[in-house]
Amino acid sequence: MSNRQLKISVFRYNPNLPDDKPRMQEYQLEEQQGMTLFVALNKIREELDPSLMFDFVCRAAICGSCAMMINGKPRLACKTLTKDLPSEITLMPLPVFKLVGDLAVDTGTWFRDLQVRTEAWVHTDKEFDSQALEDRMDNETALAIYEPERCIECGCCVASCVTANIREDFIGAAGINRVARFMVDPRDKRSDAQYFEVVGNEDGTFGCVGLMACDDSCPIQVPLESQLAWVRRKMALAGLKL
Ligand code: SF4
Ligand code: SF4
Ligand code: FES
Repeated sequence: MSNRQLKISVFRYNPNLPDDKPRMQEYQLEEQQGMTLFVALNKIREELDPSLMFDFVCRAAICGSCAMMINGKPRLACKTLTKDLPSEITLMPLPVFKLVGDLAVDTGTWFRDLQVRTEAWVHTDKEFDSQALEDRMDNETALAIYEPERCIECGCCVASCVTANIREDFIGAAGINRVARFMVDPRDKRSDAQYFEVVGNEDGTFGCVGLMACDDSCPIQVPLESQLAWVRRKMALAGLKL
């Protein structure tokens, strides 16, 4: 049986070139066995069009760089097999994030701002002692920290979120997940009220419409639905109006 011919339609636009205009460009490519979209894009860049821009680092769903809209859904190119797609494939850059060019977007600035807004570090008065033994932590707590900590900052949940698409300052599921990670950390001495100052407003939990596109889009199954629900519950218990 001969291999499928793929028709890959790619968004092209370089905002740094004054005369460039957004357009779609089509590439034809023979599908190979086990081909990921990441491999297909590299083949296009190596054999057909060296000017095509897209990001990648790890090729293994670890770095979060290669997220893009694949037939309308935010996905990692390195984790998407072409055999799971129809032969006509449309690729667009992730919305919400600043376009660098073609399929490459700047997720780094967005996530750096998120770290600053959520103060994503352990707040403690304890002096660091390099000679001290590590603090012990029970398995349940360690797991509750580990799960949200797995986020690779790919931006898929943000791109799929209706609120993030219309409200520039919405911290998204990734942001609420980040706050939840520190809320369960016994080493972090912030009060609930301090956490809720970050998430208890329209740019946080109140802006979330709860349709869970974020949870559906996360390529590594960070449990966003339960994280969002947990933060909501904590806020309700603290007597805040939801
Ligand atoms: S559930 Fe909330 S955070 Fe998730 S996609 Fe919907 S609005 Fe965005
Ligand atoms: S929570 Fe999932 S979808 Fe969102 S940025 Fe992290 S890894 Fe990506
Ligand atoms: S290249 Fe690293 S996640 Fe795809």
